[in-house]
Amino acid sequence: MKDAVIAELLQHAADELRHADLVSNRIIQLGGVPITTPKRWFDHSNCGYDEPADPFVERILEQNIAGEQCAIGVYNALLGESLGKDPVTYNLATQILQDEVEHEEDLQALQEDLKAMLGRRA
Ligand SMILES: [Fe+2]
Repeated sequence: MKDAVIAELLQHAADELRHADLVSNRIIQLGGVPITTPKRWFDHSNCGYDEPADPFVERILEQNIAGEQCAIGVYNALLGESLGKDPVTYNLATQILQDEVEHEEDLQALQEDLKAMLGRRA
């Protein structure tokens, strides 16, 4: 299932880059300065970074599902913080949250297929 997982993760990576662009632009609109160095991204990350040290598809899916679930929590929190105060940020968080939920669903579907192939219950 490597090819299917690779195709899905490439699509997600493009979405995540688009999200970074949307969030960066919103930070600038609010008068802030986006963080532009990768080391500082890690320092300020809400979800950290889980190195893909184990290339087995099952582990890659587990790591990425956990990452999507963390992102869903972060954007849900942003919805709560911006509700009634900042409709532009609220709308942005809603758009990104929809993508993250879709990512989680896509990866869970692949995980279920893999479990079925391995003869395990999904
Ligand atoms: Fe995602």
